[in-house]
Amino acid sequence: TDLAKIRNFSIVAHIDHGKSTLADRLIQLTGTVAAREMKAQMLDSMDIERERGITIKANTVRIEYPAKDGETYILNLIDTPGHVDFAYEVSRSMRAVEGSLLVVDASQGVEAQTLANVYQALDADHEIIPVLNKVDLPAAEPERVAAQIEDVIGIDASDAVQISAKSGLGIPDVLEAIVHRLPAPKGDRDAPLKAMLVDSWYDSYLGVVVLIRVIDGVIRKGDRIKMMQTGAVYGVDKLAVLKPKMIDIPELGPGEIGIWTGSIKQVRDTRVGDTITSEKKGCEAPLPGFKPAQPVVFCGLFPVDSNDFEPLREAIEKLALNDASFSYEMETSAALGFGFRCGFLGLLHLEVIRDRLEREYDLDLITTAPSVVYHVFMRDGTKIDLHNPADMPDLTHVDRIEEPRIKATIMVPDEYLGDVLKLCQDRRGLQEDLTYAGSRAMVIYDLPLNEVVFDFYDRLKSVTKGYASFDYQITGYREDNLVKMSVLVNDEPVDALSMMVHRDRAEMRGRVMCEKLKDLIPRHMFKIPIQAAIGGRVIARETLSALRKDVTAKCYGGDASRKRKLLDKQKAGKKKMRQFGRVEIPQSAFIAALKMD
Ligand code: GTP
Repeated sequence: TDLAKIRNFSIVAHIDHGKSTLADRLIQLTGTVAAREMKAQMLDSMDIERERGITIKANTVRIEYPAKDGETYILNLIDTPGHVDFAYEVSRSMRAVEGSLLVVDASQGVEAQTLANVYQALDADHEIIPVLNKVDLPAAEPERVAAQIEDVIGIDASDAVQISAKSGLGIPDVLEAIVHRLPAPKGDRDAPLKAMLVDSWYDSYLGVVVLIRVIDGVIRKGDRIKMMQTGAVYGVDKLAVLKPKMIDIPELGPGEIGIWTGSIKQVRDTRVGDTITSEKKGCEAPLPGFKPAQPVVFCGLFPVDSNDFEPLREAIEKLALNDASFSYEMETSAALGFGFRCGFLGLLHLEVIRDRLEREYDLDLITTAPSVVYHVFMRDGTKIDLHNPADMPDLTHVDRIEEPRIKATIMVPDEYLGDVLKLCQDRRGLQEDLTYAGSRAMVIYDLPLNEVVFDFYDRLKSVTKGYASFDYQITGYREDNLVKMSVLVNDEPVDALSMMVHRDRAEMRGRVMCEKLKDLIPRHMFKIPIQAAIGGRVIARETLSALRKDVTAKCYGGDASRKRKLLDKQKAGKKKMRQFGRVEIPQSAFIAALKMD
């Protein structure tokens, strides 16, 4: 295809601002999908994505558009993942296209997540077309929002396209703007093949499908190609474009986007950002910026019923085959038995995987407190990457501990600002910036990732009644006064509850933990001490008094059926209990105890 007739773009938007609706409209208006095949939100394919309305995988569609200038253009849309956990995937998708549509809900305005993605687009040197959506709503204020875009993002929004993705108003203008305002791709057809691996996924008929953007050269069906990071060589069995159904094509040249398959067994064998070239006479240097997937949040996953360990192992292995960014290793816990220590890109990723394990594989799981990776520098000069607080070495051998920090961007209506500042302060945040865009404040905080992984986002949503938007990126590691706090129930350490905390906050966290456990653990026939400790030193303590009455005591004599019912109830309750020495702790207590208020 003639390079001058190609336009590649992505859509940047905050959740719910109408990205998927707009994509559907573009597909529909250009007749890419026959009307009878059109179902709402063509591009969101995974069930969880559809249910939660979030995009996890980059989805792509090739649109043929006969423009008003009489020429037919090929428009390739790469739909980027809309969540911070997948920032690296977003950055790769952005590198695969030349421009972006910046979709902003004209009744809402710019949000934190929009900003993060726009910066990625600007980093990738994109031409950006501002699109004001939902102008059909009475609350829409396109002029105000255009001014806000100029203010906050610093790009010209005077010729923003005003649309209603819902009614279809303005969609032809979007198509014309794509053709006339976005640059055509550049590339050299005669150079050796150089293509970027943008995404990959598993298809039950075809095996692993690889989405690529060709930079230079040509890829043809039957070619032998090489992945430069892994060194693996494959044959190109199938080459196709996505409309969004796969349509076979004999070759893909510079500037084009499409998929190929080649008997790749696992998605793990493909790396987002890798460079694909010919096996023989390949290109000299790979594309810059490749990063191997790095899990940043770890937690333990244990089956509630220890008989589910094997099914859990099988399920985890299956999921991992198709998700290179998910890591796991077996873990044993005195409290929870056999399970896995798993690594994730972030909290959403964790939730998605846990959800799939529970729903698709019908497993009941105990999730231990998510933890970040600490760098522990030992006195003997060695360094440990600590993924699990339970593995923390004895403090006397430790020189210092560093933890990951993030730069968090939060946008919030003025009236909730005070609560947001307090929340960030409570989580050891350092304020870096505070600015206003109309009645919304934008705050930037430097925060420890550890303070964010458990329930920061939930808390933020609740103190702002859902009005805050939040985004973050990891900035680096910094030393702090960190210690491991262990929890002992009836003098037995419960390793699933041990956590890394800041020294200054340890007492408070320990006290809260003990108080909570006191409420969460049912009383037994004996007194149970509950303690929090740092090393051998107890920092908080509660005592759960002994249970005096027999549960059946209140059924005076005769009523046998009532008595049996009570005993049955007790038995059912037991299934969800875990035995710690002589003490039984209900499964729900773990999760509840780890939540902060
Ligand atoms: P994510 O997939 O979560 O990123 O969301 P999205 O940005 O794709 O938003 P989506 O297209 O799912 O739209 C969110 C909601 O806004 C849906 O209920 C749409 O029907 C609605 N919506 C989208 N465009 C318009 C519009 O132009 N006008 C009105 N009134 N509603 C719209």
